[in-house]
Amino acid sequence: MKIRVLTGAGISAESGIPTFRGKDGLWNKYDPTELATPEAFQKDPKLVWEWYDWRRQLIAKAEPNEGHKVLAQMEENFPDFWLVTQNVDGLHQRAGSKKVIELHGNIWKVRCIGCGKEDYDYRAPLPEIPPECDSCGGLLRPGVVWFGESLPVDALQRAYELSEDADVFIVVGTSAQVYPAAELPFVAKRRGAKLIEVNPEETPVTPYADVSIRESASTGLRKVLELL
Ligand code: OAD
Repeated sequence: MKIRVLTGAGISAESGIPTFRGKDGLWNKYDPTELATPEAFQKDPKLVWEWYDWRRQLIAKAEPNEGHKVLAQMEENFPDFWLVTQNVDGLHQRAGSKKVIELHGNIWKVRCIGCGKEDYDYRAPLPEIPPECDSCGGLLRPGVVWFGESLPVDALQRAYELSEDADVFIVVGTSAQVYPAAELPFVAKRRGAKLIEVNPEETPVTPYADVSIRESASTGLRKVLELL
């Protein structure tokens, strides 16, 4: 059985990491155009980095929750399993998942806007903001995808191929509002996959789901594991 999973911020909510939309969502308190666009970074790299540094500190203190762990367990149980995530927190990998495709980058990655050099930097807080490239002295940016930017081509193409080839497609903790990630469940469904959604709220995917589990990721995914 070919199992594919798409996760969003909701799976990390039980680890204490805020989601983007909804009542306590980050985009309710902060303006994404001031913090998560190439233009914002150009205008005020220090402000953008302060926000990312704050999020890096939150994530560094967080632990993977039961939802992340059930998905790592699924990967062990099913040889043809792939996890596609919109999250940048790296909690899936910390829970033991290995077959992970990151569509929106990773918050621990830094990339030089001068020479393009990319590295992981796990220090939180960073000793210097904004950080500089140790090779060329250029400005480093967070290795995440911002609004108005393209997704990493290889990751996106692989995500489409895997979705087209799914028997079961599980969508967890995403509001399914940000494209192209939000298209993947529909790609899978059109190719005949069974669609399972785990989310306490309804989303645009809900009307197309074969199984809809209105629960948190931890409780809902345990139920899915029993179903499979
Ligand atoms: P959102 O914040 O848009 O949606 C979070 C979803 O998680 C909502 O549908 C909630 O109902 C659900 N949720 C909340 N708590 C949950 C729980 N305990 N268990 C399961 N689900 C829960 O987050 P995303 O859909 O991931 O992009 O947002 C997509 C993208 O928009 C993000 O990757 C980010 C953001 O702007 C970039 O940064 C490029």
